[in-house]
Amino acid sequence: MYLIGVDLGGTEIKTGLVSKDKGIINKVAIPTEANLGAQKVAENIIKTIEIVAENNMDKIEGIGIGSPGSIDRDHGIVRYAPNLPFHNFELSRIIIEKLKIPTFVENDANAFALGEWYFGSAQGLKHFVALTLGTGIGGGVVSHGILITGKDGIGTELGHIIVDPDGPLCGCGSRGCIEAIASARNTARWAKEFSAKIPENKIVEFAGKVENIESKHVFMALEHNDPVAKMVVDKITDALAKAIGNFVHIFNPEMIIIGGGMSKAGKSLLDPIIEKVNFYLMPSFRNSFKILLSSLVEDAGILGASASAIYHSRSR
Ligand code: BGC
Ligand code: NA
Ligand code: ZN
Repeated sequence: MYLIGVDLGGTEIKTGLVSKDKGIINKVAIPTEANLGAQKVAENIIKTIEIVAENNMDKIEGIGIGSPGSIDRDHGIVRYAPNLPFHNFELSRIIIEKLKIPTFVENDANAFALGEWYFGSAQGLKHFVALTLGTGIGGGVVSHGILITGKDGIGTELGHIIVDPDGPLCGCGSRGCIEAIASARNTARWAKEFSAKIPENKIVEFAGKVENIESKHVFMALEHNDPVAKMVVDKITDALAKAIGNFVHIFNPEMIIIGGGMSKAGKSLLDPIIEKVNFYLMPSFRNSFKILLSSLVEDAGILGASASAIYHSRSR
């Protein structure tokens, strides 16, 4: 028997056919086409499922979808998603009607946490915090062996923890959320801003020109000891370390797992966070937990989404 995991992003839908023992067997990625509306996105999701399932449709036990934003998981409704045209959109109903397979929708970062729990570094743990650093910043928390969701199911929006009340404006309307400082998009924004002042730097060299700077160019430049890259990375890792300090004080976790596109930066992202985080902790919490990068890499979203189908079908 198989599961389907759908990693729904603002630009791409990545879908996989997943076996519980063998992992991903078949996968595909197509553009989300968010600009064409919610119905079109749902049709695209169905299309990806049909592609990866091939002739195995009748062997699929469940479909899990990881979507950014606020999810009503009991009804499979995406209430609001910052980068998608979803307002109270009944995503699971549309898919169930078409494919007649149980379908579960989960917040993408919660799904990532479940993926690490079932398939990755958090196997066997009861207390951990997962962060996804991408276009947005998401959070998923397992505490006392339970995925924390809160009264309305929309809890653990860890990317919107405010670490600088006078900081830059966030897509959510607040100022100085970690997402507004340290998301991939904002990492690139700092680099562009600093490069306007100091145009001769390795970031611009790797990107070709200032307008083309992406977060990956910052980390490439950092590996060459570029001082502008160091300024950017110091800024974002300081914000992340402050936020992680807060999470550690609240949850006393065994592990902090960092995933999302930016985690591909590896040690150049992780080491400065590890170096700074103890600074923001009470002595009793220092070195009380591990911080590591996701080991599931590119497949974390698909595996996470399929793990959410397992988790929610059990908890019903
Ligand atoms: C959203 C979260 C989501 C995260 C990662 C944030 O902007 O508020 O719901 O988990 O981005 O996609
Ligand atoms: Na979450
Ligand atoms: Zn915010």
